[in-house]
Amino acid sequence: MSNVLVVGGAGYIGSHACLALREAGHEVVVYDNFSTGHREAVLGGVLIDGDVRDSEKLKEALRNYRVSVVMHFAALISVEESVSNPIAYYEANVEGTLSLLSAMVDVGVEVMVFSSTAAVYGKPDYSPMLEDHPTRPLNAYGESKLAIERAFPHYERAYGLRISKLRYFNASGADPEGRLGEAHYPETHLIPRAFNAVLGGPPLEIFGENYSTPDGTCLRDFVHVTDLADAHVRVLRRLQDGGDSDVYNVGTGSAYSVREVIQMVEKVTGQEVPTIISPRRIGDPSSLLAASDRIQNELGWTPAHSNLQEIVESAWRWHQTGWHVGATGDTG
Ligand code: UFG
Repeated sequence: MSNVLVVGGAGYIGSHACLALREAGHEVVVYDNFSTGHREAVLGGVLIDGDVRDSEKLKEALRNYRVSVVMHFAALISVEESVSNPIAYYEANVEGTLSLLSAMVDVGVEVMVFSSTAAVYGKPDYSPMLEDHPTRPLNAYGESKLAIERAFPHYERAYGLRISKLRYFNASGADPEGRLGEAHYPETHLIPRAFNAVLGGPPLEIFGENYSTPDGTCLRDFVHVTDLADAHVRVLRRLQDGGDSDVYNVGTGSAYSVREVIQMVEKVTGQEVPTIISPRRIGDPSSLLAASDRIQNELGWTPAHSNLQEIVESAWRWHQTGWHVGATGDTG
């Protein structure tokens, strides 16, 4: 088993990955600057308060804890914010990752599992999308992730690194045991925003109802965060067994519309979700649906927890009872 540096390990997906890594017997060193992560989300292992752009601090962490593998989750992730503030996105996602790569090269750590996104694809030519689908991002978030994906082969050739990229579709849900969940401030994601509307917050805005989809709202592929975490452990194992760099879609191959998600939230909460129709959100593709055959066939991964009801039920439990409740005076 390995010492794994989990950069961004206090965030939503990173913290669930830490749980899965520890359950698989790895030692976890969380490195996070808490700009969007939470100390409460670090449930064990070593914790270092540091910025991903601080290459010297990263080197110290890699050396001090004899790290052999890096998982890199630290990033800004809002499609909408990336359109209005691309500087922040290129600095955090491109410059941040370059700093981490430099530290790894200097210290001689050669293996990384990288968080990428379905946003690298843009408007689908066909659906579900395979990993070799053309990449034409519609927003600065997707562009920033693609830019760094494109740097990897050069670092791999020159410095012998091996980096596998996981392109997440819509991460959602919460740890089935209720230890962790989603806590973004402000919250931009559909499911927690629907909960907030149920709990007396502002009505849920439906961003566009005139897309060319069956009910006019966008289609998304929702994958449970616990399944995403399991995907990381499997990809790590493959790299440790000497596997080459690779790229994997992580989704379910089933799409749900925004309206179908709202219906599920109503079923699970037993309450109506107040909604209003708003204009389309800039940078949103109408549909994002994964073909995840590669990770299923090569690594035996399955979206075991990713049916929509289980996703919404686990997220709802967390939304009402997690450590974030009352932490900042609101629940998201
Ligand atoms: N939506 C609403 N109202 C809301 C919030 C969202 O109608 O209040 C809609 C969006 O327009 C979109 C869908 O619900 O059609 C899902 O939106 P999310 O914000 O929950 O998720 P995104 O699909 O925008 O983004 C997620 C990740 C990104 C990733 C993207 C593509 O957060 O990091 O999936 O995989 F890039």
